[in-house]
Amino acid sequence: MEFYDVIRSRRSIRSFRPDPVPDEAIARIAEAVNAAPTACNLQPFVFKFIRNAELRAAVAGCCRSSFPAEAPLLLAVVCDPEKAWKRGDGFNSVEVDVGIAMEHAVLAAAAEGLGSCWICAFDAARAAQVLKVAAPARVAALCPLGYPAAPPRPFVRKEQAQVVEVLD
Ligand SMILES: Cc1cc2nc3c(=O)[nH]c(=O)nc-3n(C[C@H](O)[C@H](O)[C@H](O)COP(=O)(O)O)c2cc1C
Repeated sequence: MEFYDVIRSRRSIRSFRPDPVPDEAIARIAEAVNAAPTACNLQPFVFKFIRNAELRAAVAGCCRSSFPAEAPLLLAVVCDPEKAWKRGDGFNSVEVDVGIAMEHAVLAAAAEGLGSCWICAFDAARAAQVLKVAAPARVAALCPLGYPAAPPRPFVRKEQAQVVEVLD
């Protein structure tokens, strides 16, 4: 798919068919994650592609919504702020690093014809317990992946001029 078509086709999908995600698609999404830029190239995260049905159900059970449980594949991002770049004024790059890598994942998923949806509305303490993640590491985000069973919500955005300025 052409790059801008991928950008246009990526929407949050909240209903999934049970068909499994092919291994080759997972491999290409994983490659996209590993290609993401991070501050000082530290890559302070692990993207866990959860295929195991029992573990998937347990992690999906940490979400506020029920739709992540429908997906045949669940991505859980574990990050460690201690392993991220820190600026002298206290800024820690971990959230930015995770955000960029997750966007690589969801765009790669879109290129594969897969639906995805960033999930931050989940019980992070419970997810850490389920995934055996100990502090300072934490579960930063979840993302169900699978073939869409229903179209996305209508596309709504601010006027472009409200979020983009060109300064000559
Ligand atoms: C950081 C982040 C967290 C999000 N968390 C959730 C969530 O917990 N549940 C959900 O249904 N959608 C979640 N979303 C999806 C947004 O609602 C969605 O991206 C936004 O409404 C724009 O729609 P679109 O992705 O279809 O273009 C999240 C998106 C981002 C970037």
